[in-house]
Amino acid sequence: MSKHPATDTDTKSATATVSGAATDTTAADSTALIALLDAVEAAPGAAELRGRSYDLLRTPTAVADVGCGAGRAVAELRDRGFRATGVDPDPTMLATARSRFPEGDFRSGDAYALPFRDGELTGYRADKVFHELDDPARALAEATRVLAPGGRIVLIGQDWDTVVVDSDDAALTRAIVHGRADLVTSPRAARGYRNLLLDAGCTDVAVEVHTPVLTDGFALALLEGIARATADAGLVPTRSAESWVAEQRERAQHGRLFVAVPMFLAAATAPNRTRADA
Ligand SMILES: C[S@@+](CC[C@H](N)C(=O)[O-])C[C@H]1O[C@@H](n2cnc3c(N)ncnc32)[C@H](O)[C@@H]1O
Repeated sequence: MSKHPATDTDTKSATATVSGAATDTTAADSTALIALLDAVEAAPGAAELRGRSYDLLRTPTAVADVGCGAGRAVAELRDRGFRATGVDPDPTMLATARSRFPEGDFRSGDAYALPFRDGELTGYRADKVFHELDDPARALAEATRVLAPGGRIVLIGQDWDTVVVDSDDAALTRAIVHGRADLVTSPRAARGYRNLLLDAGCTDVAVEVHTPVLTDGFALALLEGIARATADAGLVPTRSAESWVAEQRERAQHGRLFVAVPMFLAAATAPNRTRADA
């Protein structure tokens, strides 16, 4: 079971869980995750990163946003003229997406078994999803199944081991960041995007890194959540996590927070599949 980036307002959102199987995700987890994703969507650079991902899909025809969450990307893709379908296994996510964007096409489905025919799509997008998957290569094989020759794949995500935090205690920071990463199913999926795409036979593989720098209340909430989740899991002593957070609160009071979260954006062209490959 994987856990989500922890910002935030309460313990639930710090440890919100969503796995590949929607059945072991509670509605409360999903609601907390939606609040977190709303905050992430509003963070510096987030809108630009989404816009860049849409540009990399290139052709505004039939696109799936896999792991669509609360649906914003589907709405934005529609605004850009794409025929966009959001796919997610989580009923709470789908209900939220449908209520927020009633004109959108949202379907229940899983990255390993997408509700599309072979070659039906021209674009596949998955934003902050592959770290949730225990077998990213299988999901990518499914992506290439549903794409027409020349179809585009765009993957976005952070590398969970690579959250940069300015702190007086480097060793404890490492323990907390890496401990939080260890709570994620595939924490380093993003650094693997390039090889994953190459191994799947994709061409034109390119990776960009966009790094928001966070210095405000969102950064503090993020750090509090990371520390809490790591302590709750017994990966660092609670007292250590509390003193680390106290230092960050002190920094916040003096405008001295510094957090950077590199976001990996990979794009590629799907392989031409012959009937024999299928
Ligand atoms: C961190 S959220 C990101 C949501 C959205 N892409 C965004 O950027 O706001 C991860 C999403 O992946 C979905 N998810 C988890 N396992 C999945 C799977 N096996 N197939 C498709 N989506 C999955 C979750 O339900 C959740 O909506």
